Amino acid sequence: MSDKPLRIGIAGLGTVGVGVVRIVRKHAKLLEDRAGRKIEIAAVSARSRDKDRGVDISHYDWEDDPVAMARRDDVDVLVELMGGSDGPAKAAVEAAIAAGKHVVTANKALLAHHGQALALAAEKSGSVLRFEAAVAGGIPVIKALTEGLAGNEITRVMGVMNGTCNYILTRMEATHQGYNALFEEAHKLGYLEADPQLDVGGIDAGHKLSLLSSIAFGTQVDFDAVELEGIEQIELQDIEEAAEMGYRIKLLGVAQMTGRGLEQRMSPCLVPAASPLGQLEGGTNMVVIEGDAIGQVVLRGPGAGEGPTASAVMGDVIDLARGLSIPTFGIPAAKLTAARPAKAVVPAPYYIRMELDDKPGAMAKVAAVLGEAGISIDRMRQHGHHSPTAPVIFVTHKCARNQIDTALEGIGKTKVVSGAPVAIRIEEV
Ligand SMILES: NC(=O)c1ccc[n+]([C@@H]2O[C@H](COP(=O)([O-])OP(=O)(O)OC[C@H]3O[C@@H](n4cnc5c(N)ncnc54)[C@H](OP(=O)(O)O)[C@@H]3O)[C@@H](O)[C@H]2O)c1
Repeated sequence: MSDKPLRIGIAGLGTVGVGVVRIVRKHAKLLEDRAGRKIEIAAVSARSRDKDRGVDISHYDWEDDPVAMARRDDVDVLVELMGGSDGPAKAAVEAAIAAGKHVVTANKALLAHHGQALALAAEKSGSVLRFEAAVAGGIPVIKALTEGLAGNEITRVMGVMNGTCNYILTRMEATHQGYNALFEEAHKLGYLEADPQLDVGGIDAGHKLSLLSSIAFGTQVDFDAVELEGIEQIELQDIEEAAEMGYRIKLLGVAQMTGRGLEQRMSPCLVPAASPLGQLEGGTNMVVIEGDAIGQVVLRGPGAGEGPTASAVMGDVIDLARGLSIPTFGIPAAKLTAARPAKAVVPAPYYIRMELDDKPGAMAKVAAVLGEAGISIDRMRQHGHHSPTAPVIFVTHKCARNQIDTALEGIGKTKVVSGAPVAIRIEEV
């Protein structure tokens, strides 16, 4: 056991930062036993010094400037919990790395945009940069990929990693209310980010997927290559039609290496209701990892909140106290390859919904367009009439996304549909 404590400086005392303070105070002896040395808070930093944070921070030095805190001689590890892809979070992490200090962060936006540069800088200065809490909150998925599954070639990673979207989608099904009503409910409950597009537009979950892809496939983080589609166009009818066919709709991230490059998608998908992903309720997250030796591993747990996120942060801090040193994305940053982005290469069946004119010949025109795009129809469903139109659902056989896009454009030109048709991928999970 070392007689030198590991001293952390916490930048950001919001939901997660306060959770970390609480764990360090509550479990001092347990942490010391597990880490082999004391873990102490040397300093803290946030915007407002006077704010009541519900936890006693009077024992710790206060720094107004997180960058100054990162450089302090008595800080071994910067714990960055401010958030944001740039600004003070990036400046403080860069300052810590430049000073040869280790960094633990929960900031997926920062790593999705600057992960490669930060990983290179950390390795150059002998720092360790860890980010378990940035992906799927309390679920130890980074550890699973970089350590427990390190003997596998990873073939596919999938995840439901935005609890707010899963809350909205599962509540739509349970309450038979539309998207707008549940968006409002999520807003009132404080589940949405200040910019809701980060959640419902799939951006936050896309950040997380890009980090998982990097570790899984040994590639440089490439968030710009993630195909993003949010949940705003999902209607109650889609959820109910999916349920009748034995599916549920999830905002699902999928990353897989194809013959044409790395495919990364974050989009609403129909998944079998009986599958682990299909059974996921409310704000819970799930990550599914497939490897050549292991087969499939399913990790499920709380994806956000004070306790779960602080738990993941502390796991990283304890690893650093133990002296564990793993490259940020599992292999040295200089060895990570720049993957060729592949857009929707892997074919799948699709669910297509449209409002079709209720007149002779309309259906034949749509079927002809689908045929011209090389898409064959597996099933067709029609329920009721909203005269002068009728809602029609097609389920296709496997096809590529670009065939679907061609068909949707062609269907628009037939002038026998009202509004824009909606296509949702059916994922085999
Ligand atoms: N909340 C979750 O469940 C969760 C889950 C996974 C990951 N994360 C990630 O964890 C990080 C923190 O999230 P959070 O929910 O704890 O955020 P939060 O509650 O909004 O807290 C942010 C903290 O950062 C401080 N801060 C903001 N700008 C600052 C600046 N310019 N200088 C110094 N301090 C500044 C704020 O100070 P004041 O308090 O004085 O305003 C606040 O204490 C984010 O990267 C987030 O994406 C959060």
